[in-house]
Amino acid sequence: MKKIDLNTRTPYEIIIDENLMQYSGNYIKNVSHAKQILIITDDIVNELYSNKLTDSLIKNGFEVFLFVFSHGEVSKNIQTLERVYSFLIKNKFTRSDLIIALGGGVPGDLAGFVAATYMRGIDFIQIPTSLLSQLDSSIGGKNGVNLSHGKNLIGTFYQPKLVLIDVNTLKTLPKQSVSDGIAEAIKYALIKSPKLFYLIKNNDFEYILKDLIFECINIKKSIIEKDEYEKADRKLLNFGHTLAHAIEKFYDFKGYTHGQAVSVGMAYTTLSGEKLGITRPGTYSELISVLEKYNLPYQINCDMDKIVEIAKVDKKATGEFFDLVLIKELGNAFIKRIKKDDLKKYIGG
Ligand SMILES: NC(=O)c1ccc[n+]([C@@H]2O[C@H](COP(=O)([O-])OP(=O)(O)OC[C@H]3O[C@@H](n4cnc5c(N)ncnc54)[C@H](O)[C@@H]3O)[C@@H](O)[C@H]2O)c1
Ligand SMILES: [Zn+2]
Repeated sequence: MKKIDLNTRTPYEIIIDENLMQYSGNYIKNVSHAKQILIITDDIVNELYSNKLTDSLIKNGFEVFLFVFSHGEVSKNIQTLERVYSFLIKNKFTRSDLIIALGGGVPGDLAGFVAATYMRGIDFIQIPTSLLSQLDSSIGGKNGVNLSHGKNLIGTFYQPKLVLIDVNTLKTLPKQSVSDGIAEAIKYALIKSPKLFYLIKNNDFEYILKDLIFECINIKKSIIEKDEYEKADRKLLNFGHTLAHAIEKFYDFKGYTHGQAVSVGMAYTTLSGEKLGITRPGTYSELISVLEKYNLPYQINCDMDKIVEIAKVDKKATGEFFDLVLIKELGNAFIKRIKKDDLKKYIGG
């Protein structure tokens, strides 16, 4: 078992282990006196893991309710929110009860938003089951849902009471989702840790699972403990994401998964960095070697001018400027304020 203490404004523990699901109730009992618990999950994860979780909660004296929505990004919207709020009201949930997010980043972001807003805040716990949610989205308290105008346009910062990571759940994860999670792990390595980079490059993913997740979370911890509300350093976590978001949008969220788009975003930004003399020569080829190992793309065949135009209206832009994340060398990232008109030079490859 591995444990990490996250010292945000409200501190909490992250526990990483095999077979954690069947003992989850024991851990949850230590951080919650709730009478009722609502598990929020999607249909796929529900089939796989709800029973194990529910059994353990009931064994520990909780009354358990289940809210299941159909899987996928399309469900992360206001309509699903409304249905969850109604469910909570109908079942007389109070502020002293508890919500559990079970699943990938979609249930995590949605349930986090519900918890932050229902009756102005009810406790919640993250039980992430996708690689991306285990090493990234369940950590750090960001939540949100999509609007018809764009992704994650409403959301809050609201920390969970506990995060339980059962690495055994990754055994049922489709290969593509594993690669998507690895893309984010490579991002952590590029911005903060050559050690993590070589861990990913030189080993087979199955054998390093716990270490990989542990290293990634520790990097995220070091960043968000300094900057919980993304005023400065937390922006480093957006490396590759300016281009990635534009690629996802350009293909109407159907052409590339988020992880694949991030992969291309990191590659193009690194290549541009080398051309501009910002990034140490050779970094790009190191990166490509590891992206190839995990079948992640690093080139796209489309009109870069159009994609850069889309990137210019990114919600993270401030007026005429962008705070762009660039890397000097493996493990060493920094934020540079650039003019929007110069964007193509920095991320165009
Ligand atoms: N809050 C944050 O800080 C943050 C950070 C990064 C991403 N995100 C959000 O996370 C979301 C993407 O996360 P995701 O890729 O986990 O999406 P997801 O929750 O849709 O999961 C991807 C797919 O994997 C399935 N799945 C999950 N766990 C499984 C398992 N153990 N076995 C088999 N199938 C499983 C799900 O049913 C789904 O179909 C996006 O909405 C993104 O905006 C949030
Ligand atoms: Zn991402």
